[in-house]
Amino acid sequence: MATPSTSVIAIYPGSFDPITIGHLDLIERSSALVGTLIVSVLRNETKQPLFSVDERAEMLREVCARFPNVQVDSFDGLLVKYATRKGAKMIIRGIRAVSDYEYELQMALMNRRLQPEIETVFLMAGEAYSFISARLVKEVFRLGGDISGLVPPSVEQRLRNRILGESAIK
Ligand code: PNS
Repeated sequence: MATPSTSVIAIYPGSFDPITIGHLDLIERSSALVGTLIVSVLRNETKQPLFSVDERAEMLREVCARFPNVQVDSFDGLLVKYATRKGAKMIIRGIRAVSDYEYELQMALMNRRLQPEIETVFLMAGEAYSFISARLVKEVFRLGGDISGLVPPSVEQRLRNRILGESAIK
């Protein structure tokens, strides 16, 4: 995909525990709109993640390697402060359904209050991906359901290794 002729730097922040095909769709579509897209994993989560920040960043790097203007990073502290340090004027977030809207609106308005010159831009999830969440993918996989096509193949292998244990590595 051609990189657009713009100098806009955007941050796509998230937990990415792990990256799903829905995230990847959003990365592909948003990277076509900006000069540089920094996909950044939140570091100081209170919830217990399945994968470490470094593992999540590694998975992101593997699947984002084909997008020349996408960088992968991690951050802690306030998102808007991090975005400012990176020279980013835009935060990208995906909306899958109405249920996402309230939380996203609150965050966008709070971020605007903290740093008015940074805009949050929402992209609608592709309709084929609107039901996919990392939380559900992990739950379905743990319970023996088929998650092929919901995460990149390399991520599915890592889930297999992590959840089913070393005996599943073939
Ligand atoms: O993938 P997630 O878990 O929905 O992403 C949430 C994220 C990382 C965007 C949000 O928790 C965040 O920005 N955290 C950084 C701390 C911060 O800036 N908090 C105030 C946001 S209003």
